Amino acid sequence: MCGIVGCVGRRDETLSTLVHGLSKLEYRGYDSAGVALVDDDLDVVKRAGELDDLRAALDGRSVAGRVGIGHTRWSTHGPPTDANAHPHRDCSERVAVVHNGIIENYEELRAELTEAGHEFRSDTDSEVVPHLVEDYLAAGEETEAAFRRAVSRLEGSYAIAAVVAGDDRVFAAREDSPLVLGLDDDAYYLASDVPAFREFTDRVVYLEDGEFAVVSADEWRVTDADGQVRDKAVDTVEWSPEETGKSGYDHFMLKEIHEQPRSLRQCLRERVSELGGTVDLDVDVAPDGVQFVACGTSYHAAFCGVSLFHEAGIPAQAFLASEYATSPPPVDGDLVVGVTQSGETADTLNALREAERRGAETLAVTNVVGSTVSRECDQTLYIRAGPEIGVAATKTFSSQVLALALLVLSQTGASRQDVAALRDLPGNVQQVLDESNAEEIAQAYHGSDAYFFIGRGLHYPVSLEGALKFKEISYEHAEGFAAGELKHGPLALVTENTPVFAAVTGDGELARKTIGNVKEVEARGAPVVVVTDGRNDAARYADHVLEVPTSDERTAAILANVQLQLVAYHAADLLDRSIDKPRNLAKSVTVE
Ligand code: F6R
Repeated sequence: MCGIVGCVGRRDETLSTLVHGLSKLEYRGYDSAGVALVDDDLDVVKRAGELDDLRAALDGRSVAGRVGIGHTRWSTHGPPTDANAHPHRDCSERVAVVHNGIIENYEELRAELTEAGHEFRSDTDSEVVPHLVEDYLAAGEETEAAFRRAVSRLEGSYAIAAVVAGDDRVFAAREDSPLVLGLDDDAYYLASDVPAFREFTDRVVYLEDGEFAVVSADEWRVTDADGQVRDKAVDTVEWSPEETGKSGYDHFMLKEIHEQPRSLRQCLRERVSELGGTVDLDVDVAPDGVQFVACGTSYHAAFCGVSLFHEAGIPAQAFLASEYATSPPPVDGDLVVGVTQSGETADTLNALREAERRGAETLAVTNVVGSTVSRECDQTLYIRAGPEIGVAATKTFSSQVLALALLVLSQTGASRQDVAALRDLPGNVQQVLDESNAEEIAQAYHGSDAYFFIGRGLHYPVSLEGALKFKEISYEHAEGFAAGELKHGPLALVTENTPVFAAVTGDGELARKTIGNVKEVEARGAPVVVVTDGRNDAARYADHVLEVPTSDERTAAILANVQLQLVAYHAADLLDRSIDKPRNLAKSVTVE
């Protein structure tokens, strides 16, 4: 939901560093992009469209300065036009500002500033900031104080960075939107997320809400709103810069699907005793009950968590985070678990804050070290999937489900059989990746009217996730259903031109009943694709089969999901969609 970058270099590489940083943050938004550099003057170049449009605009232009900021946008106020692209400037064109978040009182501020003679050039909420800074500078404030005073007028969420002509510092502030500093020998950086500068340094400082940063070539400093210096820890990032590249794959999404054996191994590393018995997660919880809050794919992982906890005899419920905040259910001593890959999703953070207000203990299950959720929750369980750049979540889903399975085992103890199933999971995922015929199936069915996904038990959230992945990157209509619900309405949609994907593993009651549902759609002429481990006869009723290795039912859900990820990927590729950056979407949704 917008990415911001800043750089103060000691060499003349600031512009290329900013553009590089924006390329690493494109997953946060790609409606428009821009940069501002200062020396004695302010130079701003910004364009609607993707980063390549900005690159083209910069081509051949001399934009000088070692101090700069940049922005890649996901529109909230105003359409993606050149005028609405960031950085925004004040009237005198000496102040430039980039912003991620939403300024809730911008209409009021804009009216006040307009009244005072300021002229606005965009429809955005963000543009009030440079005008406010301009006002405080005109009133005689020093630049740092002018910036702090301008920010003190804002209500809402923001990560903001500003530069002022004639001043060789970048000023930044955070409230409810991520912001991190990077410290290198040749330059200091700031960004919404570490990949923006990971190629240059692994030393980082995470800002907290209410903090300000002032960065010059020789010094960085974090203060509170009154300018009092805060003592900040310098952390070291554990993942390598290569992890943010495509490594020869056509798309980040395909690379990330293929990374799953490794990301799952990382999630397991040193957490499960080989002999069984103990699971050590560095998390101290013993819940009587669990409430999950999450959005999108993470909600589907949480939904898997519900089944896993139930199986272990611990009652659990999953709530869409956006609904939890408006109608909170009783907490009653439950542990409230926020599942969020980015750790920055506004709906999930707000639901967790609501849970905390109601006295609940909170646990974050997230991928991003230093994310807001990890700082706000009582405890954090990291899923350790490594950076995920593709907007469609893939490897983080499987690692979330695995982390939740580990959380359950940390409560119940792990049998040798449990340990064996977990140990086999990365290898089984590799087998699916090596042998999948998903591309052939995508070929066979692309051009259909709609795509349906069904399953029971853990395969129900897997079906919801299969459909979400399919629709978000192919832009085709796809729906996931509990297999038993089909006959209560959705069956009316089923025709010979709506393939139905059914996940059916094992030989138990759930498989038997799902096969009954498969027969229902087959009888209505729908093409059927079953995802199966062959321990049942679902394949008899199918036009195509996606095989998964035989495994424990908990891990079978992850294996089935990998097949459906591949089907979605290949279908979108055949349709020539923008796979890593689907239209209208952004990876980190920091607005409600
Ligand atoms: C879909 C997808 C989204 C996210 C959702 C929550 O592929 O990625 O549905 O799962 O926006 O994001 P996080 O997990 O960052 O809270």
